[in-house]
Amino acid sequence: MKFFLDSSDINEVEYAFQNFGIEGVTTNPRQLAVIGKKESEVVRELAEWTASRGFAGSREFPVSIEVNPNLERWEDIYREAKLIVQQGPCFIIKIPCTEQGLIAARKLEKEGVRTNVTLVFSRSQAIAAARLGAKFVSPFVGWKENYGEDTFDYLNDIIRIYKNYNYQTEIIVAAVRSGKVIADAAKMGADIVTCSLETMKNSVYHPFTDYGIRFFTESWNSVEEQ
Ligand code: E4P
Repeated sequence: MKFFLDSSDINEVEYAFQNFGIEGVTTNPRQLAVIGKKESEVVRELAEWTASRGFAGSREFPVSIEVNPNLERWEDIYREAKLIVQQGPCFIIKIPCTEQGLIAARKLEKEGVRTNVTLVFSRSQAIAAARLGAKFVSPFVGWKENYGEDTFDYLNDIIRIYKNYNYQTEIIVAAVRSGKVIADAAKMGADIVTCSLETMKNSVYHPFTDYGIRFFTESWNSVEEQ
């Protein structure tokens, strides 16, 4: 299972690449608001960063950029997608799973522009993304869990459906908030998880590890000091 970083912050991308070995990046409009940057600036930074690392295309290091959510008509989504992909070979166009969004994604994929169908919350939405040949689909987990929904069967079913029909669309488990979801996704055989740097860090932390280090340090020092 691959790990993508869910962030628009270039410093976080660099940190996670160096220290967690991330294999791609996903961005979204909320992250732009968090860092207070326009998407055009982030696209430029990510284009420069991927070029500086020698990534020649979306197969080596996919970077998902979400289209302006104000755009509703497929023609406008399609036009903006074309502008984004011109700026770097690593870019994947993240498009919300609406009827118009799916029309745009189908046309883009036919022309060789890779897409990531996002804001997916149901099995039938995930089927629609696969049938049009999207490169990626992003079923969200955290948002559903916030409202008390159990997401284990939902994810498991999407993976099973994709296997049943040999759909080639890669599943990015998105809005991941915990190490448990990362482990669940791996157990099910998801292709990718995308999560924040904080979630990535938390997933390798355990308080017993800290306790063990303190305990072993005391043991070590008691012998050394004799
Ligand atoms: C995925 O591609 C999304 O960017 C992301 O996971 C959205 O969820 P969050 O920002 O609430 O974590």
